[in-house]
Amino acid sequence: MNEDRRTLAGELPGDVHIRLLRGSDAERLGAAYRRNRDHLAPWEPARTAEFFTTEGQSANIGGKLAMFAAGTGVPWILLSGEEAVGTMTLSGIVRGPFLSANLGYWVDREFNGRGIGSAAVAHVVGAARTALGLHRIQAATLPHNAASQRVLQRAGFQEIGHAQEYLQIAGAWQDHVLFQRILH
Ligand SMILES: CC(C)(COP(=O)(O)OP(=O)(O)OC[C@H]1O[C@@H](n2cnc3c(N)ncnc32)[C@H](O)[C@@H]1OP(=O)(O)O)[C@@H](O)C(=O)NCCC(=O)NCCS
Repeated sequence: MNEDRRTLAGELPGDVHIRLLRGSDAERLGAAYRRNRDHLAPWEPARTAEFFTTEGQSANIGGKLAMFAAGTGVPWILLSGEEAVGTMTLSGIVRGPFLSANLGYWVDREFNGRGIGSAAVAHVVGAARTALGLHRIQAATLPHNAASQRVLQRAGFQEIGHAQEYLQIAGAWQDHVLFQRILH
């Protein structure tokens, strides 16, 4: 997917830039996870102490770039100047008759409520349809994650059901609401 690197980048509200994640982002991403530790804790898997360090982020980014090289995922970073202010990740890309991927994301607490999450999801939807040639994106939210559900609805996702004990979030297997966006 190397030829698509430039088309996978874009501009979001508030001078925030979205582009593919790079190995050199480890320090800024570690700093962003440290700043947003409490903000993200209820919505994400339990993290090790290592995860919040530059070394931990080097490993995290390495895994995501391996996924990109294998064609099974696309990891984006959101930047305000030199600072990381969020990520968007398509993972589990399956081709053949499914042409589907899972979407995960977060936006820095200080940048919430400015339309950045909605614009970034819209950017990913556009890239998935054109550069990646996918048919469908799925996302799952905790039932009480109203902000995330609003972001998905604004980007044209539809609720398709409820799944019990779907993901291990904040240390517990938790029920989720499933959404999908058909891209064609
Ligand atoms: C969910 C998240 C990505 C939203 O990012 P954002 O940049 O604030 O999103 P936007 O500004 O584009 O839109 C947020 C929408 O949610 C709404 N919202 C925010 N908090 C809300 C709440 N408690 N109840 C209902 N709606 C809420 C906002 O009003 C806005 O909708 P509007 O534009 O129609 O007014 C961000 O809050 C976040 O990172 N949360 C923690 C991690 C997370 O939940 N990730 C997703 C896991 S599925």
